[in-house]
Amino acid sequence: MKHIISPLDLSTEELNDLLELATSISKDPKKYSSVCQGKKLATLFYEPSTRTRLSFEAAMLNLGGSVLGFSDSASSSVSKGESVEDTIRVISCYADICAMRHPKEGAPMVAAQYATIPVINAGDGGHNHPTQTLTDLLTIKELKGTLSGLTLGLCGDLKFGRTVHSLINAMVRYQDNHFILISPIELKIPDYLRQEVLIDNKIPFKEVQKLEPVMPELDLLYMTRVQKERFFNEEDYIRLRDSFILDMEKMTYARHDMLVLHPLPRVNEISLEVDHDPRAVYFKQAQYGVYVRMALIMTLLGLNK
Ligand code: CP
Repeated sequence: MKHIISPLDLSTEELNDLLELATSISKDPKKYSSVCQGKKLATLFYEPSTRTRLSFEAAMLNLGGSVLGFSDSASSSVSKGESVEDTIRVISCYADICAMRHPKEGAPMVAAQYATIPVINAGDGGHNHPTQTLTDLLTIKELKGTLSGLTLGLCGDLKFGRTVHSLINAMVRYQDNHFILISPIELKIPDYLRQEVLIDNKIPFKEVQKLEPVMPELDLLYMTRVQKERFFNEEDYIRLRDSFILDMEKMTYARHDMLVLHPLPRVNEISLEVDHDPRAVYFKQAQYGVYVRMALIMTLLGLNK
């Protein structure tokens, strides 16, 4: 039994197989409409979500399975003090696979130690968000045609943005990728990521505080929101929240084939006018999230053969 707690829980070969399956699903979703008949997915969301929870549910329903779970821990026995360990032991009796989002870093890993079903990390604190990364990889592969030889600009809250941490971890596995990390000084990537993932592996990167000068270099611009819920101090959040706003004026510096991705939700960091630019692919990205989660559920349940 396999769990997905970090994007690194899949080997590059497994990752490539999963993306291939997701591509096949995207071409003919109906072909897979009864693959998971009789199977149940539990969604245990201790933190708010729109895309991740609903795309997991849509994925399982598209595969002919069913879903159960909670989207607000206050309505579950967590509010009475039940531990993650006990909750997952019980859920293992009710479902075949589970997706868990939790504000505490490491909570899905704890759940995996007690589960008798596959556990998928659907986002743990500011740590990891592996299925968003799978979504991002599928989007890049489908729309750029490759996962190698790219210059990726990651912009916004690189300190608390778990999607950025997971994406860097995944993209360093492919050859010749360069990273341009664009953030205020206070929201730079965590030290462990800079040292252990980028410097130790001799991955080319630079850290900058301005977006416009680097726009012409980018194959991809991955925008992120400043993560209000992770700040200890509201004043700091208010000071930093509008550090970067991508608008059509800034888009004029970009290449004609640069793609703009965003895990969503968006707050202010991309002006609505950019939505009409064909290079803005964040809503397509949300659609790819369903296909890749279908592929992941099938793979973890051993139904991908
Ligand atoms: N991208 C993402 O994780 O969105 P949600 O928080 O809405 O699930």
